[in-house]
Amino acid sequence: MTVTNYSPTDTPAWRNLETLSQAEADITITQLFDTETDRVERMSLQAGELFLDYSKNRVSQNVLQQLIALANESNLFNHRDAMFCGDPINSTEKRAVLHAALRSERADLPSEQGQSRNEMIKQQLEHVRQVSDKVRDGSWQGSTGKSITDVVNIGIGGSDLGPKLACTALSEFSHPSINVHFIANVDGAEILTTLASLDPETTLVAIASKTFTTQETLLNAKTTLNWFAEKIGLKNAQTSTHFIALTANPTNALAYGIPESQILEFAEWVGGRYSLWSSIGLSIAITIGFQRFSEMLAGAREMDLHFQSAPIDQNMPVILALLGIWYSNFLGAQSTAVIPYCERLKLLPAYLQQLDMESNGKATTLEGKPINYNTGAIVWGQTGTNGQHAFFQLLHQGTRLVPIDFIAAVKDSLSNDEHHRVLIGNMLGQSSALMRGQPAPKDQPHKHYTGNKPSNTLLMDSLSPKNFGALIALYEHKVFVQGSIWNINSFDQWGVELGKNMANELLGSNLDHSQLDASTKKLFDHISKVP
Ligand code: F6P
Repeated sequence: MTVTNYSPTDTPAWRNLETLSQAEADITITQLFDTETDRVERMSLQAGELFLDYSKNRVSQNVLQQLIALANESNLFNHRDAMFCGDPINSTEKRAVLHAALRSERADLPSEQGQSRNEMIKQQLEHVRQVSDKVRDGSWQGSTGKSITDVVNIGIGGSDLGPKLACTALSEFSHPSINVHFIANVDGAEILTTLASLDPETTLVAIASKTFTTQETLLNAKTTLNWFAEKIGLKNAQTSTHFIALTANPTNALAYGIPESQILEFAEWVGGRYSLWSSIGLSIAITIGFQRFSEMLAGAREMDLHFQSAPIDQNMPVILALLGIWYSNFLGAQSTAVIPYCERLKLLPAYLQQLDMESNGKATTLEGKPINYNTGAIVWGQTGTNGQHAFFQLLHQGTRLVPIDFIAAVKDSLSNDEHHRVLIGNMLGQSSALMRGQPAPKDQPHKHYTGNKPSNTLLMDSLSPKNFGALIALYEHKVFVQGSIWNINSFDQWGVELGKNMANELLGSNLDHSQLDASTKKLFDHISKVP
C-alpha cells in the first residue's frame, strides 16, 4: 500500500528513533555486546558469496527494530516493485529506472512504444559481445590493417567511473596484450600524455556518453581525431574502425560520423551512474572477456533477487541503508567512509561518490517540497592499509562520527598467504580497535582512545567478476532504499546543471565581465595577467 503524503519524519518509527537516540546515547557498542549474547549471529548476513557483519554498530535491538519499522512505514517496497516493473519512478525526467533489467533474464518486462525491452537488451548485449570478441581476438583492425593493442575510453561520470573501477578491480582477468585507458577530465595534460604513449594504428577509441553532448567528452574526442590526422594522416577518423560510440543518443553519434554498426546503444532508462551494465561496459568486456562480463551481470542479478525477496531483517542493502539513516538522521554523522582492504578496489570510493552523492544529494521531496531532514551523506575513503597512515588518526581520536564500511576479499589468488594475512589482520585489528578503544595511561590523555566508533565489515569470498557485480548492485540498492525512505528522486541530477551552464557562459565569446561576481572577475583578471 502506498502511503500518501508520506514524510519519513511523520512516521511513528521516526519519532521512536528520535527518542531512542537520546535514551540510548550513552550505551556503547561493547556494552551492547556484553548484554546481547547472540549479537553477532543476529547481526550478520550472507547473500551469495558476500558476508556482512554489522554487529559493530551503535545499534541496539530496539533501534534495529525501529529502523525496520521505518522501512515498513515508508513507501520503500512499493517503490522497489515500481522500479523493477519499469514504472517511470524518475519523476522529474519521466523515465523508468531499469538498469537491473540489463542483468535480468526476465521475459516479462513491459515493452516500450511497441518495442520489446527484452529483445532490445539482448541485441545490445550481443553487440557488446561481438565487438569485444573481435577486439580481443585481433580481428577488429584499424585503418592500416593492424589489430588493436590499446583502447581509449573517453567518457566522464558514469561513462567513466564504473567501467574504470571494474577494469581495475578485475585486472586479474585482463587480456594479456590489450591495454585499456580511461580519459575523463577535460584537462588536456591527461589526454595528450596518454595519446603520446600510443600508436594510432593500433588504437581504438570508445566515445562513451549517454547523451553524446557532454562538453569534456566531445573535446577529448576532437583532440583524438586531430591526433589520428596528425600522426597517420587519417582524416575523419570517426568514420573509420578506430572509433566506436557507446550511447543512448545514436542520432548524435550518427551525426558525428560514427558508422551505424559501430554505435553500441543503450536505453534512456539506464541512468548514467548505473550504466556499467550496458554497452558503456564495452571496455570491461574487452578487458575481461564477454563471458566474465556476463558473470559480473549474473552477480548483480543475484543481488537484485536478494533485494527483491530476502526478508527485511535479512536484506543486505536494506540493512546497510537503515544503518546509514540511523547515523545521518539520528546521530548527526555528516559523512561515511568506505575503506576497501584491497588495492584493486582503490577506485570504489570515487565510484560510490557519484553513485551515492549524485543520487541522494537532494533537498526536494518527490512532491516537490523542501526537505527539513538530512539526506545523502558525504562519501569518502581510500584503501587500507594506506588510509591507516593518513586519516585513521581522525577516525580513532577525532571529534567526528564517521561510520565506516570495511570491505575485503577473503581469498586473493594474486597475493600470497603472508601478505593477505597481514592485510586482513590489519582490517580486523582496526575495526576492533575503533570499537573497543583504550583508556589513557596515567597522565597521558593523548593516548586515550574513546572507542565506540561504528563499522560494517563486508567480506567477499574472492574478488571474482560475480562477486564484484554483487557488490556494486548491493550499493546501488542501498542508495535506492535510502532515497525511498527519504522520499527523494535518486535518479535525476539537476544539481550539476547550474555549474555546467555557468561554465559555458564564462567560456562564451559574448561574456560581459561587468555581470560577473567580484570574486570571479578578480580571478579572470589575475589569469589574464599571468605572462
Ligand atoms: O553531469 C553529470 C552527468 O550527467 C552524469 O550523471 C553522467 O554520468 C555524466 O554527466 C556523463 O554524461 P554522459 O554519459 O551523457 O556524457
